[in-house]
Amino acid sequence: MPTTLTTDRLTLRPMEPRDADAFADLNADPAVMEHFTTGPLDRAGSDRLLAVIRERHLRDGFGLAAVERREDGAFLGFTGISSHRWYPDDVEIGWRLAAHAWGHGYATEAATAWMEHAFGELGLPRLISITIPANTRSIAVMRRLGFTLWEEATHEGLDVVVYARKAA
Ligand SMILES: CC(C)(COP(=O)(O)OP(=O)(O)OC[C@H]1O[C@@H](n2cnc3c(N)ncnc32)[C@H](O)[C@@H]1OP(=O)(O)O)[C@@H](O)C(=O)NCCC(=O)NCCS
Repeated sequence: MPTTLTTDRLTLRPMEPRDADAFADLNADPAVMEHFTTGPLDRAGSDRLLAVIRERHLRDGFGLAAVERREDGAFLGFTGISSHRWYPDDVEIGWRLAAHAWGHGYATEAATAWMEHAFGELGLPRLISITIPANTRSIAVMRRLGFTLWEEATHEGLDVVVYARKAA
């Protein structure tokens, strides 16, 4: 069963086909995609990503999930936990929000709920989060969640920093 979580301001629910338009807008925004090697995604690329996220959430019971604002039902982006091919023994927590939703604490609020679910319900021993050193906004979310730098590494020619936090 896919997971749905609720916070004060947000519903964290499986991504659905009806999210496709808002998801494509977000993925097409150069500001949102600044730190991704793919750059902005076209509509077909965004739809493919949506399909993969949905499949993996159904398969694993957890995954990357839509962030929906409870006040007005707006789709803000995704947060969640998923496996990463570079670190198959770990589970990664991640986030991507539309630029209009930055600066409100939504990413930290959503990721905190996912972290509590991962350490509580799922009993995971630790979480990691991967980004490039230039992505200071993402690193700030990691630090707010209590993550600390675990390793600097190079994968597929990309220099990354990996933050981690153990279950309390
Ligand atoms: C990474 C990303 C999710 C961070 O978003 P964010 O809005 O900066 O992060 P938060 O939701 O934690 O919000 C924190 C900000 O909201 C402010 N804020 C306002 N109201 C708040 C509230 N009620 N509670 C908490 N913080 C609040 C904080 O002061 C902080 O502001 P600051 O950035 O000026 O210091 C966003 O920049 C993004 O989607 N980037 C593109 C995708 C990406 O790179 N993803 C990561 C890939 S590794």
